[in-house]
Amino acid sequence: MYYPDEIVEEVRNRNNIVDLIGSYVKLTKRGSSYVGLCPFHNERTPSFHVSADKQMYYCFGCGEGGNIYTFLMNYENQTFPEAIRTLADRAGITLPEKEMTAQEKKERSRRTQLLEIQKEAAKFFVYCLHGAEGKQAALYLQKRRLTAETIAHFGLGYAPKNSRSLYTYLRKKGYRDDLLKESGLFTYDEKRGFTCKFWNRVMFPIMNQANKVIGFGGRVMGDGKPKYLNSPETILFDKSSNLYGLNYARSSRKPYLILCEGYMDVIAMHQAGFTNAVASLGTAMTPKHAILIKRFVNEVRLAYDSDEAGVKAAMRAISILNHGQIRSRVINMKPHKDPDEFISNLGTEAFQKRIDDALSSFMFEVSVKHGQYRQNDPDERASFLRHTAVMLLRFPEEAERQVYIEAISREYGIDARSLQDMVRNMSARMTERDIENYNSREDVRIIQPEKIHYPPSVNSLLISERRILTLLSEDSSLIRRVNGILSPEDFEDPMCRKIAEKMFASVSDPAGFSPAKILDSFEEAEEQKEAAAVFHEKSSDEMTEEEIEKSLTESIIRIKQIKLEKLIRDAKSAQDMQMIIKLKKELENFTLPA
Ligand code: UTP
Ligand code: MN
Repeated sequence: MYYPDEIVEEVRNRNNIVDLIGSYVKLTKRGSSYVGLCPFHNERTPSFHVSADKQMYYCFGCGEGGNIYTFLMNYENQTFPEAIRTLADRAGITLPEKEMTAQEKKERSRRTQLLEIQKEAAKFFVYCLHGAEGKQAALYLQKRRLTAETIAHFGLGYAPKNSRSLYTYLRKKGYRDDLLKESGLFTYDEKRGFTCKFWNRVMFPIMNQANKVIGFGGRVMGDGKPKYLNSPETILFDKSSNLYGLNYARSSRKPYLILCEGYMDVIAMHQAGFTNAVASLGTAMTPKHAILIKRFVNEVRLAYDSDEAGVKAAMRAISILNHGQIRSRVINMKPHKDPDEFISNLGTEAFQKRIDDALSSFMFEVSVKHGQYRQNDPDERASFLRHTAVMLLRFPEEAERQVYIEAISREYGIDARSLQDMVRNMSARMTERDIENYNSREDVRIIQPEKIHYPPSVNSLLISERRILTLLSEDSSLIRRVNGILSPEDFEDPMCRKIAEKMFASVSDPAGFSPAKILDSFEEAEEQKEAAAVFHEKSSDEMTEEEIEKSLTESIIRIKQIKLEKLIRDAKSAQDMQMIIKLKKELENFTLPA
């Protein structure tokens, strides 16, 4: 929609920039202008100025500046027409609509009514969640560690067992059957009339980027099938051009979105402070999603499941994002399945670290390829090299290509020179079209997620080491069980190693083990602080025995795995190889002895 200059002018004049920005930022009057903490960068002393005279804002810290329109466009990520509409609303101005045809008018009012129906249904589900019927659902959400605040923020609800009640409710509100049929909420047959599709499920309203409910996902509270039931596509609900969570993520002010697979992942991430997380709606990523994303950011970090399906989905998403000129990186979720599980097991900091360490999508693709070929078979290894060389041809710039050649050479022990030669060779033989075809060809080979090689994250190793020591310090019978499986030398972190030494030594000490005593054995206050931190990596207080067992086992595996990866990288002799094979076997069948 195009708005003439006079309208743009009038909307600007009828809004006061101080009021507008004042509703986002706390402003204090200073001289002729107002100052506050800049919403565009992090600062402790205010350098953000808003001038009522100039109707402008400017930050002396980061250089952001503009008028009411640019403010909404930059802060809320609105488009110019959206900003005009927001501001016209604020000032009570009715914008001119271009003359609509009768058909358009009809469509529009139907659309409006359908939106109202979705909103009413969402309200109904929320109401049911908080009623007596919703007890089990509320407990379920609690079990999934969602706070009341999160539940309200995402408008979660409950669809009751009585599949007629929503229909009755909406009829009472005055909506006609033909509209209700089109809402996607009901099944209709001659005999039984209208019954709600969602029935005894936890309800996730799906909002479009303008905060309007356009459909629902409903989850069973157990193992029933399907796990999630989603609204069908309607004139409101187009799965390929909406992203769950985008209504919040769009104003997260991060330069990238985190793209994940599930509703629960988005919610868990937002709850943990990663408010830039979004998910596609039970479908694969589409080019339309890429166009939508591109409106807000130029980069995406993929937080897909760590199983084969997740890796495949990530590969497809990377290709679509590449075509949409969006950079991407892949977050390593192992040893957990998805972000929700990762965060509840390893915590927010560990997840942040994984985000920071995310693998460039190109290296991820190479890694997947690497896992698809039997590297000890010369033919297969040659195919892998050829494939990698063609992938490298995607980079038109020599320098960029070189960076990746070196990275691949380091990572996989390939001679950089020969890879370079191979790239030249392929480039001479292939047309641009060939390269494109080769690169976008669906691969039928099996993807083995466990073979994907992420850089070992130092921090996540530290967390595993601390986790083990915390668990051992809370139940000294575990020390005996772990002693012998891990030795102090297995701990990378010097402080963890020192503590492990003392802990394992206490097995033969008649006085037994005491964390406080260990602290005392460090003289420096700094060291004591650090040692105390080791004992406070997520306590087992609220864990069941099974969970403790699982967490301990996973942490031990993590440490051994990183050790193994190092060995693999540094392996030189046949002896080393034998050692590697032995360790690998051990890891595959690893369980903690009783
Ligand atoms: P997942 O099966 O990975 O579930 O599906 P999840 O997100 O981890 O869910 P929880 O933690 O078990 O509750 C990922 C996404 O795929 C869609 C949903 O959008 C889901 O969030 N999906 C999955 C469906 O649409 N239908 C299904 O039956 C399963
Ligand atoms: Mn999950």
